[in-house]
Formats: sequence, structure tokens, C-alpha cells
Amino acid sequence: MSTLPSKVTLVDVGPRDGLQNEKQTVDAGVKVELVHRLQAAGLKEIEVTSFVSPKWVPQMGDNAAVMAGIVRQPGVRYSVLVPNMKGLDAALSAPRAQWPDEVVVFAAASEAFSRRNINCSIAESVERFRPVVEAAKAQGIKVRAAVSVALGCPYQGEVTADEVEHVVRLMKEIGVDHCGIADTIGVGTPKKVQAAMERALRHFPIEHVSGHFHDTYAQGVGNVYAALEVGIATFDASIAGLGGCPYAKGATGNVATEDVLFMLQGLGIETGVSLEGLVDAAAFISSVLGRKPVSRSANALLAKRAAAAEKAAS
Ligand code: HMG
Ligand code: MG
Repeated sequence: MSTLPSKVTLVDVGPRDGLQNEKQTVDAGVKVELVHRLQAAGLKEIEVTSFVSPKWVPQMGDNAAVMAGIVRQPGVRYSVLVPNMKGLDAALSAPRAQWPDEVVVFAAASEAFSRRNINCSIAESVERFRPVVEAAKAQGIKVRAAVSVALGCPYQGEVTADEVEHVVRLMKEIGVDHCGIADTIGVGTPKKVQAAMERALRHFPIEHVSGHFHDTYAQGVGNVYAALEVGIATFDASIAGLGGCPYAKGATGNVATEDVLFMLQGLGIETGVSLEGLVDAAAFISSVLGRKPVSRSANALLAKRAAAAEKAAS
């Protein structure tokens, strides 16, 4: 049996990947409060918003207000998505204290998805990222890459490990620090995850490869375990299981942070994150959205809390 990592870093992408997909408008103040609750729960990496075109993704049009509203906690890394120089310039037009610590550039492993998501070919997208990477790094800002549809594409169907490795290699060439393998539509299964991770590991050290699994087919937690088996120790996840991608219809949110943490705790893997704190954050954002969390763990723990409160009151 393989030895699993003893520590894992969880990156909560709920404020960005989650809320970018909400039909209802969510106030900037609510997003700020969500980030505060996530950092209170012990998360050290939070993907806050994106500096993309508000015509394409209006939900993230309040990006500057959200970045300005956050009261930062030392030791927490705040990241934002940027698709081009315009996005980076916008993110850096704020006072320095409001700059992101990290930017995320995102390319697709299939040409069809690249066109739908960012309106250009894979090669064009990478050329647009080149100056972004250079400018961000010159300012001491880390750069992470996301390789979308790495385990399947809503337009192309199957995506091969060769196609994934092609984009990973391009990302390495332009100098990104970190490479995330993203299952945008949640169709990946454990062996496929391991095959894609192995390709990423040919180009990036293990601490700079991560998994980003949407949970459409309930494979998210299993896929995290599969990635742990090959030594991956950084995972994106979304509070309350929020989200999806506006250009991947029918795809649900990321695997819920609470569900991943519940498994990691059971495996004795350290994260520094409090499950109860995550449940508080999940309850908060779910009540604003007027629905229950998607996360099974959050619902189980909230039911337990309600039963305990009822008992105490009787
Ligand atoms: P385009 O229309 O090809 O861009 O869009 P353009 O350069 O021709 O510009 C058109 C207009 O957009 C211009 O404005 C630009 O100024 C403006 P106009 O003159 O018409 O008024 N513009 C911008 N405005 C604000 N911020 C910017 C920006 N860039 C141009 N950065 C573009 C190309 C990439 C901008 C567009 O396709 C876009 O914004 N797409 C959004 C993609 C997106 O946010 N998708 C969801 C996030 S990715 C995701 O969820 C996947 C991930 O989670 C991993 C996974 O699960 O796979 C990361
Ligand atoms: Mg995503």
C-alpha cells in the first residue's frame, strides 16, 4: 500500500468557482463575510474572485469591491483568476494591500472548451498568459495554472493524458509556479485521475501539483483519495459544494471542502482546518442562498447540531 501524505493543503475556491455560477446576485458583503468565515475555519488558501469580463461572468463583476472588503489574516494566501493582461492590470489597479497574493491562469485540455470558455485556442490562451506570468512574478505574485477539462470535456468527450500533458508542458514553459489538474465536469474516476497526475508530475514537483475536482458524478472524494495515493497533497474544494462552470452546463460544484476534510481527518492527515468552522461557513452561505448545502458532511453535522440544541432546550 502506498504511503499517503501526512499533511494536505486545502484551497477553498467557493467564493470564486462556487459563486460564479449562482443565478441570484450575491452581495459583495456576503462574499467578504464568506471569506472571513473560511479563514476563521483555518483555511490558508482562498480563491476569492476572478478578474474576467463582466459581460461573460457578471457574478464576478464586483471583484474589486470584494478584494477591498477583506480583512486579511496573516499567513493566508488570497488568489484570483485572470484570463489576460487586462484582468491582471485590473487586479493590480487597487492599492497594494488589496492585491492578490496569487493569480490563476486557466487553459483547457481541449480546443472546443478553450473556445467556449475563453474565446480562443489553447495556443492563443497560453500566449496571452505569458506576459501575465511575467508581470505577476515581477511583482512577487505567485502564479498557478488550472488545466480545465483534463478528465473529460462537455464538447469533445474523452480527453487523453497526452492532451493534458501538452497543456501542462506549455504552462511549465511560460513559467507558472503550480499546476492544477481540473475535472471541470466531474466525469473523472480514480485511475484516470492518477494517469493525469502522473503526466503533471513529469513537469512539476509534487508540492506544485494539485487536484480540482467537480463532483457532478459523486467521484470527488474518491478522486481526492486516488490523487493522495500518488502523493498529491494540495486540493481545491468548495465550501458547501457550491458552484460549477458557466461554460460547462450541468456540471455541479467542486467537491465540498467539508466532505474532503471529513475523509482527511479519518485518514489522520493534518490540514489545520476545523470541520466545525467549515460547517459554520457552509451554513452561512447556504442560508443566504436559501438552500441546504450540497455537502453530505455539512448536512449530517448540521442535523447533529440541531438535535443537540433540541435536547438542550427540552
Ligand atoms: P473576448 O470577448 O474574446 O475578449 O473575451 P476581448 O479581448 O475581445 O475583449 C472583449 C471585451 O471584454 C472588451 O470590452 C474588453 O475590454 C473586455 P468592450 O470593449 O467590449 O467593452 N475584457 C475584459 N473585461 C474585464 N476583465 C478582463 C477582460 N478581458 C477583456 N479580464 C475573455 C475573452 C477571456 C475576456 C472572456 O472570454 C472571459 O472573460 N471569459 C470568462 C471565462 C470564465 O471566467 N470562466 C469561468 C472561470 S474558469 C473555470 O471555472 C474553470 C476552473 O474552475 C477550473 C476547472 O474547473 O476547469 C478554473
Ligand atoms: Mg472549476
